[in-house]
Order: sequence, then structure tokens, then C-alpha cells
Amino acid sequence: MAESMSGMKRTHRCAELGKAQIGQYVTVMGWVQKSRNKGGVIFVDLRDRSGILQIIFEEGNCGSEVFEKAGKLRSEFVAAVTGKVCERAGAVNKNLATGEIEVVAEQLRILSESETPPFHIEENSKTKEELRLKYRYLDLRRPDIQKNIIMRSKACAVIRNFLSEEGFLEIETPMLTKSTPEGARDYLVPSRVHPGTFYALPQSPQLFKQLLMVSGYDRYFQIARCFRDEDLRADRQPEFTQVDMELSFVDVDDVIDVNERLLAKLFKEIIGVEVSLPIQRMTWQEAMDRFGSDKPDTRFGMELNDVTEVVRGCDFAVFKNAIEAGGSVRGINAKGQGTMPRKKIDALTAFVKDYGAKGLAYVAIQPDGSIKSSFAKFMKEEEMQALIHAMQGEPGDLLLFAADRNKVVYASLGALRLELADQMGLLDKNQYNFLWVTEFPLLEWSEEENRYQAMHHPFTMPMEEDLQYIDTDPGRVRAKAYDIVLNGTEIGGGSVRIHQDDIQEKMFEALGFTQERAHDQFGFLLEAFRYGVPPHAGLAYGLDRLIMLMAQVDSIRDVIAFPKVKDASCLLTSAPGAVDDKQLEELGICVAETKE
Ligand code: AMO
Ligand code: AMP
Repeated sequence: MAESMSGMKRTHRCAELGKAQIGQYVTVMGWVQKSRNKGGVIFVDLRDRSGILQIIFEEGNCGSEVFEKAGKLRSEFVAAVTGKVCERAGAVNKNLATGEIEVVAEQLRILSESETPPFHIEENSKTKEELRLKYRYLDLRRPDIQKNIIMRSKACAVIRNFLSEEGFLEIETPMLTKSTPEGARDYLVPSRVHPGTFYALPQSPQLFKQLLMVSGYDRYFQIARCFRDEDLRADRQPEFTQVDMELSFVDVDDVIDVNERLLAKLFKEIIGVEVSLPIQRMTWQEAMDRFGSDKPDTRFGMELNDVTEVVRGCDFAVFKNAIEAGGSVRGINAKGQGTMPRKKIDALTAFVKDYGAKGLAYVAIQPDGSIKSSFAKFMKEEEMQALIHAMQGEPGDLLLFAADRNKVVYASLGALRLELADQMGLLDKNQYNFLWVTEFPLLEWSEEENRYQAMHHPFTMPMEEDLQYIDTDPGRVRAKAYDIVLNGTEIGGGSVRIHQDDIQEKMFEALGFTQERAHDQFGFLLEAFRYGVPPHAGLAYGLDRLIMLMAQVDSIRDVIAFPKVKDASCLLTSAPGAVDDKQLEELGICVAETKE
């Protein structure tokens, strides 16, 4: 039995009511959280996006017909209630915004009934994520998810307002387009009109926003959907949202300045956090040396120590071989972990192997000053003492070492540092540590392709003082590229772009691009640059990641209304799915047999 709402008009959302409305007649509409029949009184908790309100049905107030109807209310029924706001007769509920009042009902309509939902709608649900995502429309009723989605909407409003006031224009760029240079796999869309050809969905609006600078729009922004076919993780989705911007006639400091003010305003208005400006800056090299990561979490120390020189000449083959091969030996000091059981140390050794390390050498300094170590027998007493001294080891500390190529040492100790901090409870979600990482290498050697690749993208400007090395020692050239990092997550990144054609040519050369290939891929941009291109620079935030950190949740899935799961499928709609033969035929597509 579903009734119409005609003649009834909602006056308030449930949790908009409080002591100020006592004595007023109101009409509220929402979902039944729960209902309890206590003999002569029926208590109903009614929920909408604002929160929960207690409603009371008593036969003396609402009459027998309404009272009987109220007895039929079950969880997730949609109901409309008119009644009088009263001070709570029973115990005040301090946990509810509306905990001091209740609505004494006089009228009730059951607007729709509900089957028993597959899981209870409640905060911090323990229900498995697969089930929640299959019924995402129910999951989205949960107050904690609603809080995230509402926060996201408010954040977008703040961002739009701020950027408009700063003179940015919001301009949309196409979704059906050509491959963009962000380095992930493209999602392709077949063309019906031109069989055998494909659009690519944009990995970012990069090329279009640079064209907009050529067109003179000067300051552009867009809250843009981006598509990347890459392996998913907790902070990666195949389609995600960027707050994307580009500015003309600027250099690094100008981009950083406007973005620091944006972040400060956003964090203040949305979660009441003061971001102290200016935000700390660190070069990429310093970040790698101190934290083993280009997105260091600076909420805690446990920094890497280069002990190559200290152990050079010792007889421990692991250290010796790594140094002879041109690598390094570095360590971290896990304060107070000296009595960690051997089993846990073995687990950490297994952990770093995922990052390419061949092992993890350790010195556990016992509270009495004696040591347990996996390699003491290869070291002279004074060598060991020098090593402990270099690591500032004290009784009770655990010293962990990796010896390998720098890349492996950074990756494994960088990850180990985070893992230990997590185990040691050093990660405080209420602390927000921002960091700019600057001066990234322009190029990165790809073992697979046996050539240099752009670390950011091929339009990133080298640092002027390093231009001289671009032909002779390209790996040494630093870029005018910057990332903004929050608590160890890369929330955004950008660069100054190349606007001089001779530099662009050198860049393509360094990347091993022929003129032809460059023209094939980016011809329209290069051509546009022939008609007057301003110096320009920009940045894009991962909005999902930003909101994830503001909402203090562990996955970007919790801040996206309809996210996809690890294998890039949507459990709600079952996308991707097969299509009609007729559709394929129109597109001129023939699907090869796939083996299950
Ligand atoms: P970049 O590739 O660094 O730069 O992307 C910018 C930011 O987008 C976020 N991000 C993602 N978020 C969720 N899921 C993903 N799969 C994903 N991939 C990236 C990250 C990242 O910092 N065009 C350049 C920007 C520029 O140079 O102006 C770009 O796209 O938070
Ligand atoms: P082994 O000589 O293989 O018994 O190793 C002695 C210790 O060195 C063990 O604790 C290993 O985990 C550690 N180890 C092995 N390879 C490395 C490496 N590349 N870096 C740091 N420690 C290592």
C-alpha cells in the first residue's frame, strides 16, 4: 500500500528540528530507521539525509486509524508525518542532533513500503563491501557515506567559488578525444561513423588546457572526469575526478601561491583545519634521500640514513657486493622496537621483498645494551659500534638495513618506514602535513623500453640551469615539476610547460621520439604553438584523494557515489557487459574468442 503525498508538504528535514521549533506543527518525510511498539506508544526513528528524528504515535493524539497504520511501519518504509514538536518526554539522547525533542504525530502517510533490505542501514557497517556496492543505493543511505558525499559537494562549491574569485574560467573539454600523454592505458570508444577508428577517453584534460592558454583564456579550471586503465588500488579508480587548472604568464611560485591559498581555504571551510602557510617545500632528491619516497609522509620521523661510507670496507658480503655494484646501504632506526620478536622481523623481511629487496639486515639493541643481529658475525666489533653510532642507535632500538641499487633501497625502506609507522601507531589522521615536492627529474630510464621516458609528461619544462645537460646527460636534468603531498598521499601534481619550440624539440629527442611520431601524437598542439603561445603552467588535484583524506577514510571508494571495484567492474550495474551482435556489426568490430 503506497499512498500519495498530495496535500502534504515537507516543512523541514528531520534533523533541522530542535528546541527552537518546540510547539510548532511540522511535516517531515523520510525512511524508517526503526520502529518499536511499546504497548500504547509507537516510537519511530525517521531518517533523511540530515539525520534522525524520533516520532511518537499515541492513539490519544493521532486517533486509532493513524495508530493502526503506524503499527505497520517497518525498516526503510518511506513515510510522511505531520505533528507537533515537543520536548522529549523520555530520556534525552545526547548522541542525536534532535535528541532533546520528538514529534508527536497526528497524521501519517506510508508513501512506499520496502522489502527487508539485504543489510541494515547503519553507520560504520560491518557488511562486506561487495554486498554494499551491489546495493550501493542502499549503502549510500548510510549516514557516514552521506557525510562524505555531502562533504565532497561542499568542497567543490568552495573550490569553484575560490577559483572564480581568482579569475579562473570554468571551461569543459571533450570526453571523446585523442590519446593524452599521462602514460596509463587508454579507454577506447569505437567510432560507428569511421569504422575501425577509436576515440580515447581523456586521461586528463592536459592538451586541451594548454590549447586554451594558446587561445588566451589565461586562467582555466575544470572539475574534470579522467579515465585511466591501470591497476587499481585503494587510492586509484579507472575513472576519477581532477580539479584541473592552467595559468598563463606564470612560473612555479605563482602556481604554488594560488594553490596554497586554495588549500588553506578549503581545509578551513570544510573541516576547520588551519593550514599554516607557506607549505614546506622539499626537492625530489631530498625526499628520496630522507624518506625513500617522492611522496613522503612527514607526520613522523624514522628517516633513512645513508651508511654506505660507514660500512665500506667491512666483510659482510651483502653490503660489500651492493656497494661494489654502485649501490648503497641505508638504514632506518625503529625507536623502541629492539625487542621485536624474530618472527615479526622475518615478516618485515618478507614485506620488503615485495619492493625488490633481497633481504633485510638488522641490529636489535636490547634494553641491556647487548645486540642481536643477522650480520654481526661478519663485522668487527668497532665496525658494528660505528654503524650503531651512525644510526643513533640506543638500547631498545631496532636498526634495519637494505643494501642494493639506490632505486630498490629507496623503495623498500620507504615502504618499510610507512609499514612500521602504521604498526607503531604513529599515523594520526587528525594531523594534516602538507608538502610540496619540487625539482623532479625530467626523465626516467625505462628498463623495459630501454629508453628515457618523461617522468611527468613530454611538455614539462626543464630547469634552466640544467638545460645544458639535456644532450649529454639527460638523466641529470631536473624539471620544473611539483607535486603536492598530504600525509604521504600525492594529492596533486603539475609543472611549468615548455613553450619554446627548440626546447620541445630537444625534449622529443631525449625521449627518442622521431619528428614523425611527435607529430602523429601531438601534432595539433605543436601546430597551435606556432601561432603565439604564452608561457604557461598548471596543476591538477585528485579530488577523490583529497576528499578521502579530509573525510578520514581509507579508500577513495568511500567518497565516490558509484565506484568500481578492483577488477574495474561496477557491481551495481554489472558493467562492463557484452553488447548485441548488431551493435558490434555497426561498429565494424569482431570480438576474438576469449579463453575463460
Ligand atoms: P597526474 O597524472 O599527476 O597529473 O594526475 C593528477 C592527480 O590525479 C590523481 N590521480 C588519480 N586519482 C584517482 N585514481 C587514479 N587512477 C588517479 N590517477 C591520478 C592524483 C594525481 O596527483 N595533467 C597532469 C596535471 C598537470 O600537469 O597539470 C596530470 O594529470 O592525485
Ligand atoms: P644471508 O647472508 O643471506 O644469511 O643474509 C644475512 C642477513 O642479511 C639476513 O638478515 C638477510 O635478510 C640480510 N640481507 C640479505 N640481502 C640483503 C640486502 N640486499 N640488503 C639488506 N639485507 C640483506
